[in-house]
Amino acid sequence: MTQLSDFLGGRDMAEAYRDFWVPNALEPFGRDLAAGVDVAVNDILDLGCGTGEVTRYVAERVPASTHIVGIDPTPILLDAARGHRGNSSNIEWVDGAGEDLPFDDASFDAIVCHQAMQYVTDRRATFAEAARVLRPGGRLHVSVWSGGQDQPAIGSIEVAMGLHFGDEHYPAHSWSFGGLDELQRQASAAGFSVEVLEQRVLLWRFDSIRHLANTHIAGAGRTDENGQLAMGLVDLEDPSADEQTEAFVQELAQTLAGCVTDEGVVAPVGSDLLVARVG
Ligand SMILES: C[S@@+](CC[C@H](N)C(=O)[O-])C[C@H]1O[C@@H](n2cnc3c(N)ncnc32)[C@H](O)[C@@H]1O
Repeated sequence: MTQLSDFLGGRDMAEAYRDFWVPNALEPFGRDLAAGVDVAVNDILDLGCGTGEVTRYVAERVPASTHIVGIDPTPILLDAARGHRGNSSNIEWVDGAGEDLPFDDASFDAIVCHQAMQYVTDRRATFAEAARVLRPGGRLHVSVWSGGQDQPAIGSIEVAMGLHFGDEHYPAHSWSFGGLDELQRQASAAGFSVEVLEQRVLLWRFDSIRHLANTHIAGAGRTDENGQLAMGLVDLEDPSADEQTEAFVQELAQTLAGCVTDEGVVAPVGSDLLVARVG
């Protein structure tokens, strides 16, 4: 058994996401995105909903009469979303991708898209589809991690990944969207008027450097050769990954030393937020 598979303890991708990513990294950003949604609307879409965390954050804020749809193309994540005990009855789960949304024109008043736009294979088509399914005046809320060049903690993780796991992880997929300019460009090209375009800085909290490192290598998703989300940045059963992981941990122990506190690792992290209006 490798250190990485031991860390995962038999969790599948959805369980690793729930236990490592959500509480330590995702929740503050997901709640921040959900907090920006106008609650006085009828229909809301969560595009790239994954396990449905942000879908549920939105559901907590709106009246029970609001219809909420979560859509995602990855079966294991959507199954976890469907099976979650915290779901309210006004949430519907749909299998599908952003590039070809299975909805009529003008079906929604708001779309949230949290840390998913960097994974779509055709951004132009996805922004165009978002504009099509929104009603006039409807809003698209997108959040994508800022690049490492704009923030020291992520920058250190990116550099260490490049050094110890290879150039293909530098910059890592999830942080390589292209920043505020790319959000602005895609939204404008699809006919949106941009209302908010800013970096939001919140805190990631991990128990230790090793916890943070393992979460990034074992718990992270990547797009595989078939265009599907796959688990782990490396082969999690390959014993040589242990050596790489250890070197990665040691490197981060130096570069992230300033983030180590009595309460574990506390790192400011940025995510680029776009709120844009259609029509
Ligand atoms: C990091 S997860 C984020 C999930 C969720 N929004 C959250 O914040 O927990 C990225 C998600 O993007 C989804 N995704 C990948 N390609 C997509 C596409 N073409 N259209 C929509 N979602 C896609 C993945 O299936 C995955 O659920």
